Amino acid sequence: MSKETFADRLKTSMNKQGKKQVDLIRIAAGRGIKLGKSHMSQYVSGKTVPRAEILHFLAETLQVDEDWLKGKQNVSGGKEMREFKKSSKLDNVLYDVRGPVVDEAARMEAAGTQVLKLNIGNPAPFGFRTPDEVIYDMRQQLTECEGYSPANGLFATRKAIMQYAQLKKIPNVSIDDIYTGNGVSELINLSMSALLDDGDEILIPAPDYPLWTACATLAGGKAVHYICDEQAQWYPDLDDIKKKITDRTKAIVIINPNNPTGALYPRELLQEIVEIARAHQLILFSDEIYDRLVMDGEEHISIASMAPDLFCVTFNGLSKSHMIAGFRIGWMIFSGNKKVARDYIEGVRMLSNMRLCSNVPAQSVVQTALGGHQSVNDYIVPGGRIYEQREYIYKAITDIPGITCVKPKAAFYMFPKIDTEKFHITDDEQFALDLLRDKKILLVHGGGFNWKKPDHFRVVYLPRIEVLKEAVEKMTDFFSYYHQ
Ligand SMILES: Cc1ncc(COP(=O)(O)O)c(C=O)c1O
Repeated sequence: MSKETFADRLKTSMNKQGKKQVDLIRIAAGRGIKLGKSHMSQYVSGKTVPRAEILHFLAETLQVDEDWLKGKQNVSGGKEMREFKKSSKLDNVLYDVRGPVVDEAARMEAAGTQVLKLNIGNPAPFGFRTPDEVIYDMRQQLTECEGYSPANGLFATRKAIMQYAQLKKIPNVSIDDIYTGNGVSELINLSMSALLDDGDEILIPAPDYPLWTACATLAGGKAVHYICDEQAQWYPDLDDIKKKITDRTKAIVIINPNNPTGALYPRELLQEIVEIARAHQLILFSDEIYDRLVMDGEEHISIASMAPDLFCVTFNGLSKSHMIAGFRIGWMIFSGNKKVARDYIEGVRMLSNMRLCSNVPAQSVVQTALGGHQSVNDYIVPGGRIYEQREYIYKAITDIPGITCVKPKAAFYMFPKIDTEKFHITDDEQFALDLLRDKKILLVHGGGFNWKKPDHFRVVYLPRIEVLKEAVEKMTDFFSYYHQ
């Protein structure tokens, strides 16, 4: 159907991935695949097409469909079939937490290989159980949850969230300022879609939880990344934030406690962020889904509690604190100066109405979950699983020569640094693939969190210590011989 040649498709894919001929030659050499300089330039210039093994390698490395790269057309009954491509709106969207390295892990598992997954913050598979009371209450209420709820959520659910907001000292929150969602994920998407016009800018941390960047980009906005500084406990670099504000900047996102670094922001730092937002009239979006997973006796402070004069949106949910990531329940709270955001709130309301409502059985357990004994507290103190697993993994990982790390204070992630000179690492996704293939351990490379240098990876320390120990032993061995 198209006049496109193999060379055209190859060049387009190389450009999209930002890979040059030398990069492909080097990656092939690293994998023991013979790919010479002259062959590569012949493929790019269209003089020749590669044999099957090289084609497979190129398609995999450039993350494109092998048949497409080959130029094999879909033919049915002698007639060429029309092909359907994904929207170009997705061209700059990255979500590697479930990306190509994960696809490779799935292929390995399908072939019978056991893979240890340290890539996703999903507590249930690691033996973290939902509190019995939550399950009991959902069962009791199930038959009353058959219909749609109001679009922004059940009254009793929002009341419980409103009371939670009061405990967090978030000002000026009425029951109508609360929206439940199918996880915080749905609300991140909705809040970005309602806000951003093409070209509008929003400040997002690097490293980030990549859904923020993905949703801002998908909405047509420009995600402008401000640096979180590893030398300063991974706190946001305030000068970098200031430098990156333009007249198109509408908002600033903070993730506190942070995924992937495990950082927790102190009051003085939050105060400075508030002052920047105040000086430039920015909306504050604060993702606080890990606020009940804070260790070492520290306190989590909601930034919205410090900014009654600004418009703030605070996100939270039960996926992590109540180990019910699969039930899909989260919420967002509007607070502070809502007058300046009347029209935006109207946009959110429209989008919220369009999705009818969030999962109603999951809404029905919010009141139970947020009240009374918080079983998550038992996990985050000495003797508790999350605390002890953090103590173990932090020491074990930083004992590996060439690996350093800031000790996480909250959530269940750490973001270690690799000495890239020691290991000659130039491509962190390749590092993640090599670790997966050699040691059957699945991690997300730093690039998956919009971290631009190839020198970090994220570890999810939800598995039990015995499992973490096995993983670290394998990683120690891997780093004893690995280089790119
Ligand atoms: C920082 C952060 N925000 C939001 C989410 C999404 O959570 P939910 O399960 O509520 O969609 C996650 C999930 O890992 C996260 O780490």
